[in-house]
Amino acid sequence: DDETPVVSVNPTHKISKIEDNTYGGFTEHMGRCIYGGLYDPGNPLSDENGFRKDVIEAFQELKCPVVRYPGGNFIATYHWQDGVGPREKRPKRKELAWHGIETNQFGTDEFLKWCEVVGTEPYLCLNFGTGTLDEAMGWVEYCNSDSDSDYANMRRANGRDKPYNVKYWALGNECWGPWQVEQMTQEDYAKKANQWAKAIKLLDPSVQLILCGKEGPTAWDYHVTKECINYSMHILGNNDASCLIDMHSIHIYTASSDHLKNVTAPRQAERAIEITSGLIDLARIENNVPPSIPRQKICFDEWNVWDPVRAPGWLGAEEQYTLSDALAVANWLNVLIRQSKNIGMATIAQSVNVIAPLMTTKTGLMKQATWWPLLLFSKYMRGSTVACHVQSGEYDGPTQPAWIRGAIETPWLEVSAAVDDEGVVSLVVVNIHDTKDFGTKVEGITPGAKVDVYTVTGASLQSTNTEEKTEVGVQESSWTAEATYTFPKASMTMLRWKP
Ligand code: AHR
Repeated sequence: DDETPVVSVNPTHKISKIEDNTYGGFTEHMGRCIYGGLYDPGNPLSDENGFRKDVIEAFQELKCPVVRYPGGNFIATYHWQDGVGPREKRPKRKELAWHGIETNQFGTDEFLKWCEVVGTEPYLCLNFGTGTLDEAMGWVEYCNSDSDSDYANMRRANGRDKPYNVKYWALGNECWGPWQVEQMTQEDYAKKANQWAKAIKLLDPSVQLILCGKEGPTAWDYHVTKECINYSMHILGNNDASCLIDMHSIHIYTASSDHLKNVTAPRQAERAIEITSGLIDLARIENNVPPSIPRQKICFDEWNVWDPVRAPGWLGAEEQYTLSDALAVANWLNVLIRQSKNIGMATIAQSVNVIAPLMTTKTGLMKQATWWPLLLFSKYMRGSTVACHVQSGEYDGPTQPAWIRGAIETPWLEVSAAVDDEGVVSLVVVNIHDTKDFGTKVEGITPGAKVDVYTVTGASLQSTNTEEKTEVGVQESSWTAEATYTFPKASMTMLRWKP
């Protein structure tokens, strides 16, 4: 613990590409995420479509590449046709996930238009609960077909001529969960997912399909990858070999009121990603999938810090994030960057009001403590992951879950590094220690280089942002590189330079 830590970065040693879709968002019909979040007609802060302009600007500032919709658990009883066509004719329905009345005033056309205004790709989830395959195929056609077919014509009649070309579609959400009306066995899910995937790819071979996994290292993930990541020749009416499944989805939320458990908990995601990638590789070997078919990556389409017990009114899940949570989110992002070779997409759950870094208020948009690491990563950690190594003391106390201890490292300094397309290197160092600054040898930065420094910290681990006060933000400074940099206690630091 008393030794000087060393962080070594090798900017010329690229490990793998960072998919832009690592920085995706998620907006569910839950709490105030859609109504009062994305959509607030009549509010002076909204545009002529009823879309909150401040929310749109924040997504643009994030350069958010992809947004998942409309659930989450909400999808299990959602019928997309309720949410298209003249607004006054749309039915109000009781929905069973969050026990609200869904007015359907915001539906497919509104969401897809919102995505176009933001400049982001939509990612839609199919209803594996009360929905049918016919209905799902109708939705794909409504969104993507350019032909003279009934659903494409329905879209045209609703005012949209051109297809939206929605590329990403999920085969259900958490279908294993006891809270789902469709709770399925792994065998039933795999059978249904294969059937739906085949029909949807026959209908529109341009789409990418995302299989519903669990947390990664589970019997469910093992079974569904083995059964569904198979390979089909001729299935799509040509001679190309292809896979029906393009990505495998997993979900994990972490949280603890104990700071060191809170900030080390995202390490479990690293283990989950490694194991799940192994399951995918195994499925490909067992099914003789030729290497010419790109290796399926993980779609981490729900990740975040979430403590359902502390969030006020858990159905609305309006978490109030602290500096400790911001550092946990920074460590989540460190994991996603270190694991970039296995990550095809990741969408933070969620993006607005519900378990979110952005909160709409009557007068504007409040940026929570967790917004700042997300913004810095999303703006700057693009391109490729580069080799980065840390040598520091380790936190050796209890972890959540307990199995982290012994299975993975928990150094005081959590790191990742990237080089973007312009050759600018970004190094992130999160000092999780709550009382100790670390003077650290930084190897790999040319002495004398001009380094931009971004620091996220606050006066205490409980520092938080509200409508009235901002206690956690980013401080920008510059540093002329020397051998040692001091990473302050309880902080995230990003160093950026061009070698
Ligand atoms: O993001 C909130 C909920 O958490 C989602 O609806 C569900 O998929 C998960 O359990």
